[in-house]
Amino acid sequence: MAPAKRSLILVLCFLAPVLFSAVPWLRAASGQGRLLAATPPMGWNDWAHYQCGFTAQAILSNARALVKTGLAARGYNTVTIDDCWMLKDRNASGNLQADPQRFPQGMKAVAGAIHALGLKFGIYEDAGSATCGRFAGSGQPQGGGKDHFLKDARLFASWGVDYLKLDGCNVYAPPGSSQEAAYRKAYAAESAALKAVGRPIVFSESAPAYFQGTPEWYDVLTWVRLYGQLWREGSDMANFNAGNPNRSRFRSVLWNYAYNLPLGRFQKPGNWNDADFIIGGDGGMSLAESRSQLALWSMMSAPLILSSDVGKLSPQAIAILGNRAVIAIDQDPLGRMATLVRRSPDVDVLFKALADGDDAVAALDRSAAPVQVDLRPSEFGFAANAACRMDARNLWTGAVQSAVAALHARIAAHDTAIWRIRPSAACGRPARKGTIVMTTTSRRRDVEDYTRCLSAAGRVEACAGDAGESWIVTPGGALQSSDARCLVAAKSGPVLAACRPVPAQRWRYTLKGNLINAADRQCLTAAGPARKTQSLKLQPCEDNQPNQIWSLPN
Ligand code: GLA
Repeated sequence: MAPAKRSLILVLCFLAPVLFSAVPWLRAASGQGRLLAATPPMGWNDWAHYQCGFTAQAILSNARALVKTGLAARGYNTVTIDDCWMLKDRNASGNLQADPQRFPQGMKAVAGAIHALGLKFGIYEDAGSATCGRFAGSGQPQGGGKDHFLKDARLFASWGVDYLKLDGCNVYAPPGSSQEAAYRKAYAAESAALKAVGRPIVFSESAPAYFQGTPEWYDVLTWVRLYGQLWREGSDMANFNAGNPNRSRFRSVLWNYAYNLPLGRFQKPGNWNDADFIIGGDGGMSLAESRSQLALWSMMSAPLILSSDVGKLSPQAIAILGNRAVIAIDQDPLGRMATLVRRSPDVDVLFKALADGDDAVAALDRSAAPVQVDLRPSEFGFAANAACRMDARNLWTGAVQSAVAALHARIAAHDTAIWRIRPSAACGRPARKGTIVMTTTSRRRDVEDYTRCLSAAGRVEACAGDAGESWIVTPGGALQSSDARCLVAAKSGPVLAACRPVPAQRWRYTLKGNLINAADRQCLTAAGPARKTQSLKLQPCEDNQPNQIWSLPN
């Protein structure tokens, strides 16, 4: 062998182990360049079923059940251990300690067992001094002092954590700092700590949930996207109660759906609104209600995180939760929030554009009786011409129809019909069409009570589901009613008039949810008592004023 060739081989032999040992590091580094959570995270979490009543055994048997049922292969691949896994105190070196009663082998062993099943491993911590269950938190102690964000992030990385849920109980706000500023500081610190440990860890932030119903909610919703991949915006799904296993939990599903749906403007691939756990298939949820939850969450591109005893799910429930075609709506790469096409006292109709040019349509029967729905493509913003036809697949039954002029379904109480449609060329591309809603600060936690619809009569009222509540947002920023008039900022206030391309008919939509008129720079405002039918006014835009915050078709 020529000496040059020999020395090249020698150099390669010498370098090989060095290069080899760098592979995990290289992989991790390249992982950071990729978009984390490009589609909504999926998995399982113990909380809504077990609360603090779990051990490593329960966690691992659920992990195995995810694999055995095939749900893991359908995408439910991250197993997260929620609150109560740790002791109240740190050890002598200041580290968190897994509760030895629950985790006799320690946490690294559990992480290893979960990884060995081909799953990812998630863990819970808290941005405050203590978790909601009063175990050791990562945040500043009450009264001030050193936080543990970086120390804990290092520990999590050493265990192989892939996903962190950071709750927001007991966050300390020093004198002179607002609550909101204290939360922001804590979540930003965790985000920096996760970046510093060099392992791609999906970061779920609970911060907004601690501001639900306050004006600061919208401030928090504008900054969480800078730090993490998903965030809980509101109240918890009702927990399973072993003492009363069949107590209905559907009301909490509807409420979480209600508060999540108007937040479409905050989400995009890599940044998701989290409407909390999928409890479908668990106690207190009928099969119809379980179908509804999966369909609604999928229409919203919400994270699909099961929280049930997976080993006890019925074959019907597994078929619902594992429905590939519905999951594909959730995981669609565009990541759009559904548009609320209409909301009547009984029925919600939703529409969502998909990446491949198909669209998804769903209809939820919120009432206690069956309803008949008939849906024409013009309702979703397609051309209202007779040549516009759709190929449609009912995603629950699998039934396919070709070139239909409308979708028809009889929907059982609490059930949701969902279709994937392919409109014909004559339909054109859909306009942004649907309701324009305002949410209330009512504490009743009820879909109907939470939203008010803008109507072509020039007022804001209880949503009735009629054509007067259907609007098109034009590419130029006009708000066009179903009788083809446009909302204009007149001297007397906002009125409907013939559409013309003038600044007084152009509305700029902000991330906070304001509609700002291009001519007078004022905000579209609902006037009068919130529970009554309200008139429209133009007023200077105020920060987070609830009667100036609107949700538009997405
Ligand atoms: C909060 C969260 C729940 C769960 C519990 C744990 O309520 O919203 O999801 O993590 O804390 O204590």
